[in-house]
Amino acid sequence: MKGKYKILFVCLGNICRSPSAEAIMKKLVSDAGLSDRIEIDSAGIHSYHEGELPDSRMRMHGGRRGYKLDSRSRPVKTSDFFDFDVIIGMDDSNISDLKRKAPDVASLEKIHRMTDFSRKKLHDHVPDPYYGGASGFELVLDLLEDACAGLLDTISSTRDN
Ligand code: 4NP
Repeated sequence: MKGKYKILFVCLGNICRSPSAEAIMKKLVSDAGLSDRIEIDSAGIHSYHEGELPDSRMRMHGGRRGYKLDSRSRPVKTSDFFDFDVIIGMDDSNISDLKRKAPDVASLEKIHRMTDFSRKKLHDHVPDPYYGGASGFELVLDLLEDACAGLLDTISSTRDN
């Protein structure tokens, strides 16, 4: 791979799904020995939770699987569209909000949907777990573990070694 490949995960609040994707992808990338080649961050469409740690329920469910969710919520900013190589939303609403925020055509092409990288293809989006119970948080982790593995495969197969 040439240069550092930069991935931004995006959800609505940046306290449940996208910080989990960030933690899962960081672990996969670290385990693959690629931490110096791939950079990962996350952000939210809204700034409601700016500065906060991930939701305590998400941290608990993620922690049980060995993920450290210690990022701080921040909103997506215009410079993200220039700084990152790929910007990955979790659901329809994230994708349409990202498209609305994109400053140019090149930025639009960076926007993708998390489940496009799924291997199992059981869901077409990562559902918002915020107002639901424990099973929603477990589903988020299942979907993200699968899609992050698929994303790493895609990056590895499409970039020069
Ligand atoms: P996330 O979940 O987008 O996965 O971080 C949510 C977090 C907060 C809210 C909604 C969804 N909220 O309405 O505050």
